[in-house]
Amino acid sequence: MKLIVTTGRKSRESDLKLAIDSAQKLSINFHPRLDDSFEKIFRDSNVDGILVVNRNSMRLQTPHDEFFFHPSLAHVRIKNLREGRGDRMIDAMKLKSGMSVLDCTLGLGADSIVASFVSQTQVVGIESSPAIALIVEHGFQNFSDESPAIIESMRRIKVINMNHKQYLETLEKKSVDVIYFDPMFRHPITKSQSIGTFRSFANPDPLDLETIELAKSIARCRIIMKENSRSLEFARLGFQILSGGKYSSVAYGAIEL
Ligand SMILES: C[S@@+](CC[C@H](N)C(=O)[O-])C[C@H]1O[C@@H](n2cnc3c(N)ncnc32)[C@H](O)[C@@H]1O
Repeated sequence: MKLIVTTGRKSRESDLKLAIDSAQKLSINFHPRLDDSFEKIFRDSNVDGILVVNRNSMRLQTPHDEFFFHPSLAHVRIKNLREGRGDRMIDAMKLKSGMSVLDCTLGLGADSIVASFVSQTQVVGIESSPAIALIVEHGFQNFSDESPAIIESMRRIKVINMNHKQYLETLEKKSVDVIYFDPMFRHPITKSQSIGTFRSFANPDPLDLETIELAKSIARCRIIMKENSRSLEFARLGFQILSGGKYSSVAYGAIEL
């Protein structure tokens, strides 16, 4: 996907600097916004998306939609946990305070925030898409929220822009408690346009067995994968499907070590 970076129309000095830094990080062009409309930028630059930096926030604009970082999904789940209603991912991970988590598929970061809230220690999130990693890392470090617990949980997450297989190869044996995979589903459940926009920037590759073998040597407790509940990926990769979420289209699988 071809991208370009710009700012809002009335950009501050700090936005300009962030936009130029982001263009450098992503090795893409910076487009001084002036009074240009997005339509004009799309027309003139022949790009698929525009990364817009405005008031210290980032969003990825496509011709039809946009996506940006927001911790709203994590909010609902953390509220449930606080009120004792639990969370399927946390149950699958058997996650307790002090346990370490490696999230191999960071995406928009909701799962990492919830894991960080429960573990109360640093979660490492790996994301291979440079644009997604940049937007989410910026969101984790800058998004303000009325809940101090959410802010602390976000700030603790370390984002690494890398392919998870390459990253796993750098880790020592038995050095992480839980390794988590939530790859793009082989058969997407929703056709919603905003998910579609995110999907067009995300890495669609299936997990491979070599990656799972690596993860087995690095995890101390378990590996968890989330997939479509009817997915054949669980069997192919050796995950035991966990019970729960009887009426849900999503399932969690575990490899206990
Ligand atoms: C379904 S999303 C994850 C959603 C995430 N769990 C959340 O809470 O928002 C999958 C993400 O994993 C990333 N991804 C897929 N394969 C990857 C790989 N080999 N290495 C790193 N990231 C990968 C995709 O780019 C995408 O952003």
